[in-house]
Order: sequence, then C-alpha cells, then structure tokens
Amino acid sequence: MQVLRINNIRKTYYSKRKITTEALKGVSFAIEDKEMVAIMGSSGSDKTTLMNILTGLLEPDDGEIIIGDEDLLTMPKDRLALLRRKHIGIVFQNYNLLDSLTVRENIEVPLILDYYDGDKEDKVRKVAAFMGMEQQLDKYPYEISGGQQQRVGICRAIINNAKVIFADEPTGNLDSKSSKKVMEYFQMVCKEMGTSILLVTHDPVIASYCNRVLFIQDGKIENEIVKEKGENMYEKIIEAQRGILQ
Ligand SMILES: Nc1ncnc2c1ncn2[C@@H]1O[C@H](COP(=O)(O)OP(=O)(O)OP(=O)(O)O)[C@@H](O)[C@H]1O
Ligand SMILES: [Mg+2]
Repeated sequence: MQVLRINNIRKTYYSKRKITTEALKGVSFAIEDKEMVAIMGSSGSDKTTLMNILTGLLEPDDGEIIIGDEDLLTMPKDRLALLRRKHIGIVFQNYNLLDSLTVRENIEVPLILDYYDGDKEDKVRKVAAFMGMEQQLDKYPYEISGGQQQRVGICRAIINNAKVIFADEPTGNLDSKSSKKVMEYFQMVCKEMGTSILLVTHDPVIASYCNRVLFIQDGKIENEIVKEKGENMYEKIIEAQRGILQ
C-alpha cells in the first residue's frame, strides 16, 4: 500500500532582485508501506527544495502530495495540521532539540502538542528504550553525543506513530560510525514499527541501507534503483552515479 504519492511537483524561486531559479520541474513518485527510500543528487539538484515542500515549509507552484486519499496541498489548514502531527515525522540534520529541555522532555513534546491523554512517561520510556536511549533520559542535549542526539530526534519523530518520516541529510553532521548506527535504527523503525522513511543523503554508504534510491538531477528524477535480494546495494549505487555523471 502507498503511504505517500507525489504528483508533478513544480517549484520556481523568484528572488527580490528578479533572479528566477526554476527548481523542481515536475517530480512524481510514490513511497510504499515500510519502505526506506533515499534521494541522492549533486549539490543544488533541488533535494532540500523537495523535502521542504513535503514537510510543509515551502509551497510548490503546482502538483499534489497525496497521503491516504487526501491532497495535503488543498485540504483545510486545521485538517492539515492534524494530519501532519499524526502521520508525519521530521528528522533534522542539526537535530533541532531544545537545549533547555532534557532528553525526556524533548521526546515528550509531540505528545503534549497532540494532547496525548495516555501515560506520557510510559510512552516516552518505551520509545527511548526502543532507540537505546533509556539511560540518557535525564541528560540535556549538550551532555550526549551527536549520534545520541539524532536518536533523540528519531524518538521525537516516531512517538506519535508517524506513518512516514522525512529526513534531509540526517547523518550530515555525524562521523561514519555514528551515521551507520543511526541508519541501523532507521531500519529497525521501518521494520518493526512499519514506518516508511524518505531521506536525503550524499553518501552511498548511507543510501545503501535503503530499499530504493531515487536520483534527482536538475529538478527531475533521473533514475531509480531498487535493492534486489542478494545484491550489493552500495555497488549498484556507485554504478548508477557513474551513469548519471557520464
Ligand atoms: N530560497 C531560495 N531562493 C532562491 N533560490 C533558491 C532558494 N533555495 C534554494 N534555491 C536554489 O534552488 C536550487 C536547489 O537548491 P536546494 O537547496 O534544493 O539544493 P540541494 O539539492 O538540497 O543542495 P545541497 O546538496 O547542497 O543541499 C539551487 O539552485 C539553489 O540555489
Ligand atoms: Mg540540501
């Protein structure tokens, strides 16, 4: 089943100095249930523009973003806010944790925003345990490592049982060891919670943790590769990148 379908998304930036940048030129793809998909492409190939549109930071000029059978771009604002809180999780490159709150309080924020009326403490503890962060709950963000901060970011993104997580370069600030660990946790979230994940990365090692890789170039999806059983995804990605560069 599809959790997300985007149809023909277009976006042009107009700056105050009359500089026009045609970014997305009609992007369409779908994300299936429990799928982990990477978007790759060179710098300036419009990856962040696409993610900002999907997370609601930016409005496209045209197109549809379908979740369930509703289009995010035309639904009433209050319905949209609810759907975003309930179905979409966002993980940031710079973690975006609140420095004055403990790990526990940071993870709890979406429950408070969503007026969760169950046992908040219990829910936070379960999610933290799932992400291997149970021992760190009473610390502040500056008292834990970057990789751990990102795991708190993932806790916060999954605590409302999001159907899909969007992440623009979630391992961009991490060393390779912590990056791999974060990707292992993403895989676990995908497999055990059934959450679909769409992430942007420059790193073929990171992308090789995904089931599918979309290559974006000049505002269009140029190529797509899918991991087949027994295949080395890393090699496949390198080969596809070589093809695009030629
Ligand atoms: N606010 C803006 N106003 C005008 N042009 C913009 C704006 N944001 C991005 N652009 C332009 O749109 C294009 C795509 O930018 P975007 O940030 O989406 O690229 P990216 O693929 O995320 O790059 P990177 O890999 O470096 O993060 C670039 O040409 C950029 O200069
Ligand atoms: Mg970017």
